Amino acid sequence: MTNLAVDLGPRSYPIQIGSGFTAAIGAFARTVAPQSELALIVTDENVDPHAPPLAESLKAAGFRTSTVILQPGEATKSLTWANELYDELAELNADRRTLVVALGGGVIGDLAGFAAATYNRGLPLFMVPTTLLSMVDSSVGGKVGINHDRGKNLIGAFHQPAGVAIDLDYLKSLPDREFRSGLAEVVKYGVILDAEFFDYLERNSAAILARDPAVLETIVTRSCALKAHVVERDEREETGLRAMLNYGHTFAHAFEIIAGYGTWLHGEAVSAGMVCAAQLAQNLGRVPDGFAARQMNLLERFGLPIQPLPEWDAGEMVDAMRRDKKSQAGRLRFVLPTKLGHVELVDGIDEAEVRRVLGH
Ligand code: GLY
Repeated sequence: MTNLAVDLGPRSYPIQIGSGFTAAIGAFARTVAPQSELALIVTDENVDPHAPPLAESLKAAGFRTSTVILQPGEATKSLTWANELYDELAELNADRRTLVVALGGGVIGDLAGFAAATYNRGLPLFMVPTTLLSMVDSSVGGKVGINHDRGKNLIGAFHQPAGVAIDLDYLKSLPDREFRSGLAEVVKYGVILDAEFFDYLERNSAAILARDPAVLETIVTRSCALKAHVVERDEREETGLRAMLNYGHTFAHAFEIIAGYGTWLHGEAVSAGMVCAAQLAQNLGRVPDGFAARQMNLLERFGLPIQPLPEWDAGEMVDAMRRDKKSQAGRLRFVLPTKLGHVELVDGIDEAEVRRVLGH
């Protein structure tokens, strides 16, 4: 078992990472929510078999529990379903101490987190991520939210969890495509912050794909520690540091919009997005020769997409990038590497350069 902490003063919280410790998660939740009587578990149909053991563990720690099982998929991250959770909380007479437990991937964490952030002006939130992507990214850092017709994650809040319990055993039943998608965000941490970690991923790619438990614990722990380090320094994405986590994401969001959400998994879009960003950096002379190829080789080894689909229109992709909520006044803005382990925010890139890496 590995223990990490996200140090945010009064909003600090622990992260526990280990294998097969669901029976102990209740006791962990009790340490971060000593006053809570009720725990509302929010989950989806993909992972609902994990809900009863978690509920037992919470009950053994003195929580009364109730479980809401939602439809899996991005469409669930909506005001309609947030409202369902409000109804459920009201029905249960939830009070300020009621613990919202998000058992699932990014959609469940974001939605349950959003309900927790807003119901009764804020309830404690406990994250139990079940996908690699949510373990290494969305369960840590307090970004919660729902989608709006005009944009993904357009409505949201910063609401740090009270604790995060990462049971790596959940990865055993994760579909292969989902697992690989999560690896894109893992590779991202190496590229943006930690060259040594990138080397480790290259050296251990076979063991990673074989889901070797010790290697998984290492990569999840390192990813969470790197994310915690960034969040501690720029909790609300104000100084530009947290924005570095969006490496590859300007391209990725455009790919997701053009393909239609759900066609590509988020990590798949991020993978192709990182390949484009690296190539852009290389074309602009910002990285040493061979950088883009090295990153691409690792992503390819993980079975991830490395380019946008040829039928996607470059003009539409560029328009989507200009509309990205992270762009400013429609200017094209990218997180670009300078070397392995270091990236910078670069504004005002020429559209022709962007089109060149999109292959059009
Ligand atoms: N996933 C990016 C962030 O948490 O800031």
